[in-house]
Amino acid sequence: MFITMEGIDGCGKSTQSARLAEWLEAETGRKTIRTYEPGGWPEGDSLREFILRGKKLGDMTELLLFLADRAEHVKRVILPSLRQGLNVICERYNDSTLAYQSSGQELNPAHVRRIIRSCNFPEPNVKILMDISPEIAMSRVKSRSSNPDKFEAEGLPLMRTVSSFYRLIAEDQKEKYIVIKCDGLSEDEVFASMIAALEGRLWRSR
Ligand code: TYD
Repeated sequence: MFITMEGIDGCGKSTQSARLAEWLEAETGRKTIRTYEPGGWPEGDSLREFILRGKKLGDMTELLLFLADRAEHVKRVILPSLRQGLNVICERYNDSTLAYQSSGQELNPAHVRRIIRSCNFPEPNVKILMDISPEIAMSRVKSRSSNPDKFEAEGLPLMRTVSSFYRLIAEDQKEKYIVIKCDGLSEDEVFASMIAALEGRLWRSR
């Protein structure tokens, strides 16, 4: 299984992906690795720092850097793991690029989508969207870090745009997406709702 977790900054991806990895490993009897973008490959930290903390770049430059990061991540981590029969849970993937890089001034979504498609990265079996109100997510981001990255620093206006893009993307790919409505739910309730939805998908794909 190749599962991706998507959502705006502060949506709770990391917490839930850790719990999901444990559950998936027990459920499938296969080792499960957790990884992330940008930077989830050996030596990927410096590219991550450059993209997230460096000076503001043009939208196209930024897009190509996220794709370069993904190319290396796919080649060195995702594909080798899938080929060994491991499950892979990846925090952020193609739809992060579509949602965030279409939200700037210079690129439209159709153009971004074409460029992503041309990379031919492997398709996840299931994509999970943690759908949360941008206000709640941003208050979490503020409380956990006094040193926000470039995207977090743009704050609510960017997160509102990205959040609506994510909903459109998930609506457009209903077969692939599990959308978890996180507002008002505890961590345990979010997890339970994710597992309930996922169990249905796993049985269908067996
Ligand atoms: P991440 O470390 O997942 O941040 P968080 O834990 O706060 O969600 O991601 C770092 C940032 O990179 C996040 O603001 C989204 C952005 N990003 C893009 O804009 N495009 C991409 O393709 C990816 C992978 C991330």
